[in-house]
Amino acid sequence: MTNTFDKDRIHTVKKKHQNQKKYLTSFDSRAFPHVFTDVLIIGSGVAGLSAAIQAARSGSALVVTKDKLDENNTTYAQGGIAVAMADKDTIAKHTKDTLDAGQRLCNASVVKTIVSEGPSRVKDLIEWGAKFDREDDKLIFTKEGGHQFPRIIRAQGDSTGREVENTLIRAVRENRNIKIFEHTFAIDLITKEGVCHGIITWHAKRGYVLIWAKRTILAAGGCGQVYRETTNPDVATGDGVAMAYRAGAVLQDMEFVQFHPTTLYIAGAVRFLITETVRGEGGILRNSKGARFMPDYHPQAELAPRDVVSQSILKEMQKTGHTCVYLDVRHIPQERLYTRFPKIKEICASFGIDIAADLIPVRPSAHYMIGGVKVDRFCKTAVKQLYACGETACTGMHGANRLGSNSLLEGLVTGYTAGIDACKSIRRTKRDMAPYTVQETLGLSKISWLDLNDIRNSLKSLMWRDVGIERDEMRLLEAEEMIQMWCSYVLDKEFSHPAGWELQNMLLVSGLIVSAARKRKESRGVHHRTDYPQTDNTRWKKHIVSSH
Ligand code: FUM
Repeated sequence: MTNTFDKDRIHTVKKKHQNQKKYLTSFDSRAFPHVFTDVLIIGSGVAGLSAAIQAARSGSALVVTKDKLDENNTTYAQGGIAVAMADKDTIAKHTKDTLDAGQRLCNASVVKTIVSEGPSRVKDLIEWGAKFDREDDKLIFTKEGGHQFPRIIRAQGDSTGREVENTLIRAVRENRNIKIFEHTFAIDLITKEGVCHGIITWHAKRGYVLIWAKRTILAAGGCGQVYRETTNPDVATGDGVAMAYRAGAVLQDMEFVQFHPTTLYIAGAVRFLITETVRGEGGILRNSKGARFMPDYHPQAELAPRDVVSQSILKEMQKTGHTCVYLDVRHIPQERLYTRFPKIKEICASFGIDIAADLIPVRPSAHYMIGGVKVDRFCKTAVKQLYACGETACTGMHGANRLGSNSLLEGLVTGYTAGIDACKSIRRTKRDMAPYTVQETLGLSKISWLDLNDIRNSLKSLMWRDVGIERDEMRLLEAEEMIQMWCSYVLDKEFSHPAGWELQNMLLVSGLIVSAARKRKESRGVHHRTDYPQTDNTRWKKHIVSSH
C-alpha cells in the first residue's frame, strides 16, 4: 500500500468557508477526569474491534463508542465478505474486479495487499467462532455485481455483519487488556504540534473525560446520515472524518459516496437494505409498469456494477414518474427464499409483503463513504500517532466505486493493520505519555433558539436532492450556499450535547462532499454529473484531497 501519489495525481482543496476551529467545545483539562491507555480506538464496528484485538497484544486498549457496542454499520451488513477463497478464485482475479470497479482511481498495491490478506483475516474470524454458511462443510460463495463469479461468504443467509460483529465482540470481551466505554461521545482529538495525544469525550452521567493515549485509531464509520435516504443507522454522522479534519488530517475522495441500488421503500419505514445477493440469487428489477429494464442499460443486467444499477433505477423512476421500482423474486422457490433471506423475509413481512408472492418496492439510498481520512499502508494519517481504518479511512482500495462486499474485507484487514502497527510502534518508542494542560475557550454564543432537528432534516433533504446520484453545477452550488448559511450560525455556536456536535460534524462533512463534487468536473464511478457526463482521464484521473 502506498499513498504517495505524484502531484498531477492530486488536486488539493483548501477550505476557506468552513469554520476552522480545532475543538467543538470549550474545556479546561484541569477540570475533568483523565483516563490513560496505550491505544485508544474510536468506533466499534469491524475495523475498530479488529484493531483493538491486535492493539491489545502487548498493552492496554480502550474502545470508545457513542452508542451500544454493536450499533454500527457492520452489524447491519447483510451480503457478506468478498474474499478470494473459492476453489477457482485467485487473488489476481479479485484484485482485477476491484480495480475494474474503481475506474482507474484505486491504488493497485493497496488493493492487492488487502485482497491478499483477506483469507487470513477470515480464517481468524472462523477460529474465533464465526459461523459462515456452509454446504457439505465447505463455505458457500455468492455472486454480487461486478464480481466475475461467486466470491461472497455469508452468515445466516443475510446476517453476515451481525455474525462478524458478535464474533469480534466475544473476542474483545474475553480480552483482559481491552476496556470498553459505551455511550461515550468522542468530541475531538487532542493534538499539539501535529501530534495526537488522545480525545475529549462526553458521557451523559460522567460528563467530560479526557482520554490520553500513546496511539489513537479512528474507526468511527461513515456518514450516510447526511442523506435523507440511507441504509446507515443514526450513528453514522461522519464524526471521525470531521474530527480528523479539524485536527489537521488530510481527507481524500470525499465526492465519492456510494448509493446502494436496492433499499426497501415504504414511506415512513426506515430504509432497510435489500442485499445485492438477492440479485445474485436471480432477483429481477421491474419498473412500475412491470417491465424488466436492466438488460437495456448493461450487459450484466441486475448484476451490473452498483453505480450503473442505481443510475438506471433513477432513470426508470424519472421515466415512469413513480417513486420506486420493484425487486421480483417470485420465480425463486419459496423455501429457498425463506431460508436464504430470513431477515429480509421477516422485515418485509412486518410491512405485509410476502417476498415469495409480492413485489418488493425498492429504490437507491446512500450507503457507503468511499472517501475519508487519507492513510498510508500502515493506516497512518497525516497527524502523528493517529491512525484511521475501515470506512473512516480512505486507503485507495475502492477508487471511484466500491465493489460490493469489499468493505467488511477492508475493515477486517485495515483494522488489523492499524492495531498491529500501533502496538509495534509503542514497543519501539517506549515513551511514556505526558499529559499536559489543554484549555480551549471558544467564546461562542450558546443561544438556544436553533431547531437542530429541523436543520438536520433540511440538510439531509438538501444532500439527497442536490448531491445525490445525479449532480450538476447548479444544484451543487445551491447545496454549497445553503450549507454555508447553516454553518454560519451552527458552527459558531457552542453546544454541550451530542445532537449539536453531530450536526456540526454533519455540516462539515457535507460541505466537504459538496466542494469535492463541484471540483470534479467529470463523471466517474459513483460521482455522476449530468453536466459533465463523460469520464475525463486526461484531466481527472486524479484524487481530490482536502485539508485546512
Ligand atoms: O448488498 C449488500 O449486501 C451490501 C454489501 C456491501 O455494501 O458491501
